[in-house]
Amino acid sequence: MKTINEFRFVVVLIIVLMATSFVIAQEDDTVIDPYTYEQNETCLQCHGQSSYFYYNEVVERDIKKRMNPFFIVDSAEYYDANHQTFLCIDCHSYEYEEFPHSGQLRMEPKFGCLDCHAGDEEYAKYKFEEIDDEFHKSVHSSKHSEDFTCSMCHNPHTYKINARTNENMADFILYDNEICLTCHAEISKYQLLTTMDNPSVLETHSWLPNQVLHFKNVRCIECHTEINNDILVAHNVLPKEQAVKLCVECHSKDSRLLASLYKYQFTDERSNLGFSNKAMLDEAYVIGANRNYYLNALSIVMFGFVLLALFIHAILRIIINYKRHE
Ligand code: HEC
Ligand code: HEC
Ligand code: HEC
Ligand code: HEC
Ligand code: HEC
Ligand code: HEC
Ligand code: HEC
Repeated sequence: MKTINEFRFVVVLIIVLMATSFVIAQEDDTVIDPYTYEQNETCLQCHGQSSYFYYNEVVERDIKKRMNPFFIVDSAEYYDANHQTFLCIDCHSYEYEEFPHSGQLRMEPKFGCLDCHAGDEEYAKYKFEEIDDEFHKSVHSSKHSEDFTCSMCHNPHTYKINARTNENMADFILYDNEICLTCHAEISKYQLLTTMDNPSVLETHSWLPNQVLHFKNVRCIECHTEINNDILVAHNVLPKEQAVKLCVECHSKDSRLLASLYKYQFTDERSNLGFSNKAMLDEAYVIGANRNYYLNALSIVMFGFVLLALFIHAILRIIINYKRHE
């Protein structure tokens, strides 16, 4: 009997471990090759922090210098982003391995998103081409030169898809608004594109009551883009005269939020949701979404236990039968 108990214990242990590792693996299945870390470190030793060292051959010693803040790539963000598996030199010339970098490298054209993502089956669900068309219709693209590129909003080093995957609504609203505010609340990047004044968002939206609450619960693009049911995130930012100002566009039964902010979550429930503002916006929904995740995990573990019970039952039968025949 003792061996059976020990045996049972080992089996339980194995199954629990398998279930746990399965759950963990589901959470983050991207494995970054150690070579990538090692190789990128040759760049990040300088570009990963606010200061760097180089050997000055004239004075024959190491010199410490400040890194241009716009040239810093945060390694934690980088290895959490869409392009985490990339080598820096997949997108930048390998000649950057040399320092000082050759002046000629500055002239080198940089990749655009579409250079890699256009026509690729694997990313078809994102509809890059359609996003590209929408973007080219937007005020940003039509009023500005070619300097306004996708990378102005999507830092190729740090952008991580949110609306599609982030279950924490407050968090992804913040993330998406931050994308706009990197220019509309900060002059340095804005000035790359125009010499105009950058009006304060708080002032230009002073007609909106309870701004803080609104900006926490809706994204800038809810009011500033044309609704497009084909793509998940609308990209045609309209001229300011066409922005949503009417309260009832959201505070009503057919709120436009159902076609924008809530379109992913509510695609199935939309018909019977019979929208009431409170139901739609209830924080409980978000908590529910999170709880679902744990329920999923739990159900996997429980499934493991059911299998285990069947397994032990079978083994015990075999062992008992075997002993009987002895
Ligand atoms: C010894 C420190 C150091 C190392 C190592 C280094 N860089 Fe740089 N890098 C700099 C400095 C300083 C600048 C800004 C001055 C300049 O352009 O030379 C810079 C500029 C750049 C720029 C911007 C050029 C421009 O003006 O548009 C890119 C891109 C770049 N580095 C990529 C890389 C990559 C990729 C690697 C690794 C293969 C790398 N760097 C390794 C220090 C370094
Ligand atoms: C997926 C492609 C991609 C990868 C991978 C990538 N970069 Fe870049 N990088 C770009 C693009 C595109 C730009 C130009 C951004 C812009 O125009 O705003 C850029 C710009 C830069 C700049 C100059 C910043 C500026 O504003 O001009 C530096 C420095 C840099 N990258 C360093 C790195 C380092 C270090 C790594 C690796 C840790 C890396 N990059 C990986 C695409 C990439
Ligand atoms: C040098 C080619 C290249 C460039 C330039 C590039 N990407 Fe990517 N991108 C890739 C590859 C390859 C992957 C898949 C990475 C992986 O699975 O580890 C990817 C992944 C992604 C993903 C996540 C896909 C997923 O399902 O996880 C998004 C979103 C994305 N890229 C958006 C962009 C945007 C926006 C730009 C422009 C700012 C851009 N990419 C520029 C090659 C590129
Ligand atoms: C004015 C800012 C802005 C510009 C310019 C912009 N985007 Fe976006 N884009 C956003 C915002 C905000 C999101 C929402 C981010 C999220 O939650 O993932 C987004 C999301 C995306 C997504 C993810 C959508 C999904 O289905 O999950 C892709 C892919 C994308 N953009 C590609 C592009 C490409 C390609 C360009 C250039 C043609 C571009 N974007 C230009 C603001 C911009
Ligand atoms: C509730 C809808 C709504 C939201 C949310 C919203 N806006 Fe606006 N926004 C408007 C309207 C309407 C105008 C036009 C105001 C006017 O003409 O008086 C406007 C004007 C603007 C302007 C032009 C200002 C000027 O006078 O030149 C900018 C830039 C802008 N918004 C950016 C943003 C950003 C960034 C966010 C997110 C942080 C945001 N908006 C969120 C409705 C909104
Ligand atoms: C790279 C910087 C940058 C980013 C990021 C950015 N904008 Fe802008 N935006 C500008 C500039 C510059 C203008 C001034 C356009 C002009 O010349 O009138 C502008 C203008 C606008 C206007 C006013 C258009 C008009 O009719 O005058 C709106 C609305 C706007 N942006 C919304 C947004 C939204 C929403 C986002 C995020 C999805 C965003 N912007 C992200 C730089 C940016
Ligand atoms: C883009 C959609 C949108 C527009 C346009 C809009 N709102 Fe809202 N409003 C919201 C959301 C989302 C909330 C957050 C509700 C919550 O979480 O309690 C909100 C909250 C409010 C609240 C606070 C309600 C409470 O529970 O405390 C008031 C008051 C309000 N809005 C009034 C207005 C007025 C007045 C206008 C027109 C000038 C307006 N809103 C335009 C989406 C919008």
